[in-house]
Amino acid sequence: MQQTDLKQIERSAIQRVKKAKSFDTLAQIRAEVLGKKGSLGLALRGLGALPSDERPKAGQAINDIKKKLEFALQEAAVRLEGRRKDAALEEGRCDVTLAGRRIAPGASHPLRIVEEDIIEALVSLGFEVVDGRQVEHDWYNFEALNIPADHPARDMQDTFFIGPQVVLRTHTSNVQIRTMVKQDPPVRILAPGMVFRNDDVDATHSPVFHQIEGLWIDRGANFADLKGVLKKFATVMFGAETKLRLRPSYFPFTEPSAEVDVTCIVCSGKESSCRICKGTGWLEILGAGMVDPEVLKAVGYDPDEFQGFAFGVGIERVAMLRWGIDDIRLFYENDQRFLKQFSPGGSS
Ligand code: PHE
Repeated sequence: MQQTDLKQIERSAIQRVKKAKSFDTLAQIRAEVLGKKGSLGLALRGLGALPSDERPKAGQAINDIKKKLEFALQEAAVRLEGRRKDAALEEGRCDVTLAGRRIAPGASHPLRIVEEDIIEALVSLGFEVVDGRQVEHDWYNFEALNIPADHPARDMQDTFFIGPQVVLRTHTSNVQIRTMVKQDPPVRILAPGMVFRNDDVDATHSPVFHQIEGLWIDRGANFADLKGVLKKFATVMFGAETKLRLRPSYFPFTEPSAEVDVTCIVCSGKESSCRICKGTGWLEILGAGMVDPEVLKAVGYDPDEFQGFAFGVGIERVAMLRWGIDDIRLFYENDQRFLKQFSPGGSS
């Protein structure tokens, strides 16, 4: 192999490398020149034909070219990579001087606001939020809550039946049963969620609505504890001046039971013509009571050792009182004009 041939190979390879516009071209040049069957490979093999005193020099020359070419290929790869990055940057370029696009932020639904406020008021007392199922077996929704089949107490809650023993839960009290069946006392839970009753729709009724129920089971838990928890709930929700009134009532799963009223949030009991409290000064907001020993027995607790109390709040009812909303249907129609009023930036 002549020196001039080698020089020729070197020059043309390096020139092509310098002009290369893609990694593919570089790979191709590498194969053509440095590969086994490449031109330098052939030159190496041709060394044997040279007189022995010329071989080392020629071998050296071939190695030098190899090194130079490797170097040039590396340099070219760095150059191409730089260009690739520049192109990618260019493509993703954004004009920071353009006017922004306004993002319309979503807002919490009023029922969600009330639910979260109630939870916030009570978690500081050690309550934990528990989720539960909406399609429920009769035993968890009724039987274990001391509401036997054929008992008149079943009439208190018009029920949607899915099957002979399966109902859409009529209250979130099913969550107390599921929790107590699973865990030993103490229990301190809040169960928010959708409930279902076979009621016709009107301004104050909906077949689907929301409740949040609280349950507290511990040694010696008593009626005064219940009142303390409710007081905390009422003052956080309706203001520090709010007073409570407990009236005797009946629920199959609590004994004694109470309807709980708060002082009217609109007139504080001062206006005989108040539209909200109808001049009584009181608003009924929830049902509560000491958990009936029959319920504790049903879940395997010893009522002589553990006692407790429960309360159930209708979320729609609280929201309607809080914002003076007179039609429950507004909560479900998703009318933006209604919902906007509850968003932080909306009109109110
Ligand atoms: N579960 C009752 C209802 O839906 C409410 C309630 C809960 C009453 C807990 C007392 C105690 O009517």
